[in-house]
Amino acid sequence: MAKRNPYFHNYEENYLFPEIARKKQELLQEQPDAKLISLGIGDTTEPIPKVILDGIRKKVDELGTVEGYTGYGSEQGEAELRELIASKLYQGRVEADEIFISDGSKPDIGRMQVLFGSQASIALQDPTYPVYKATAVGLGQKVVAMPCTQENGFFPDLDATERTDVLYFCSPNNPTGAIPSRDQLQQLVDFATANRSIIVFDSAYAGFIRDDALPKTIFEIEGARSVALETGSFSKLVGFTGVRLGWTVVPRELLFEDGSVYEDWKRVNNTFFNGACNIAQAGGIAALSDEGLAAGRTLTDFYLENARILKDALTKLGHDPLGGDHVPYLWTPFAGASSWEMFDRMLRERHLVTTPGAGFGPCGEGYLRFSAFGHRADIEEAASRLLESGVVA
Ligand code: MLT
Repeated sequence: MAKRNPYFHNYEENYLFPEIARKKQELLQEQPDAKLISLGIGDTTEPIPKVILDGIRKKVDELGTVEGYTGYGSEQGEAELRELIASKLYQGRVEADEIFISDGSKPDIGRMQVLFGSQASIALQDPTYPVYKATAVGLGQKVVAMPCTQENGFFPDLDATERTDVLYFCSPNNPTGAIPSRDQLQQLVDFATANRSIIVFDSAYAGFIRDDALPKTIFEIEGARSVALETGSFSKLVGFTGVRLGWTVVPRELLFEDGSVYEDWKRVNNTFFNGACNIAQAGGIAALSDEGLAAGRTLTDFYLENARILKDALTKLGHDPLGGDHVPYLWTPFAGASSWEMFDRMLRERHLVTTPGAGFGPCGEGYLRFSAFGHRADIEEAASRLLESGVVA
């Protein structure tokens, strides 16, 4: 009989967000009339801007004509989209042919584990987006934690960090909302250079940064092209969580001890992927027009305003949430109960779905993450439910 992938025995628990969805269903079975508001998974709720839909519709219509029909595209993605990403999002810091268009950052992170292989050791911020660890465990990679806490300003103590082959870094950070300064990112790049490690920089939330002094991409940092690749996403930028579109930038200078990361990533894409959906790519092209960028800005502003409403309510209650200014999440410390207990109380007593900090790693214990993705009326209702019920712990 066939045996399971032996590393799958190492999975301790369900993946975080399906587990939250399961708890939500459980509550709805007990209390079918509960009007739950989701502040849990960071999933966009607002309509895709018209200018982007027009781009999508045009492509759909073209696919219905003999002249306009296209089949398999380039595995690396449409040249026009790659050029727009290079110029509009990276201001020419990367070349169009260093960009690989994908069906989103999460699948790219999964494919990256194939790029690095089972023998790779990886370092992760703790707390962190759970996909890095979840995909590493399934391959048997060695995982090292880099604690990020209030005490170290949510930036890891690199002097105390063991050398690994790969280092994942998410900024603006999901879940803590922390954004390292340019100097801190320089330290990270210098650390990777000294250790001959590769940084995987996740910039999925860069579109929410509202302070030009804060770095939006690792490629603003000197020396980064030789040690880092970066994954980005249209999901939160223009409401494409369902449409699916992202990219990964791999500079040609980035090398393994015995080969080119660029060539190997190309191989992974050629063999594991057939290119992103051509309709989604047409939407991406429209999103990067001047009008599309302005519409994306309006959309991300909307979610940041949601974050402000929730932050105000939590602050009035005496909590001290982090984030919300340049990221659509509030990282809120709660004393006196575990984060899963706090999650349960929010769910059962206020009918608010949040995310327990411990789901992002041991250093997330004592926190709840509130997502600011939601319709305005729901966010206002969530804020008043918080205020009515008073301080939680
Ligand atoms: C989150 O809630 O952390 C993310 O939105 C989930 C995801 O992007 O996969």
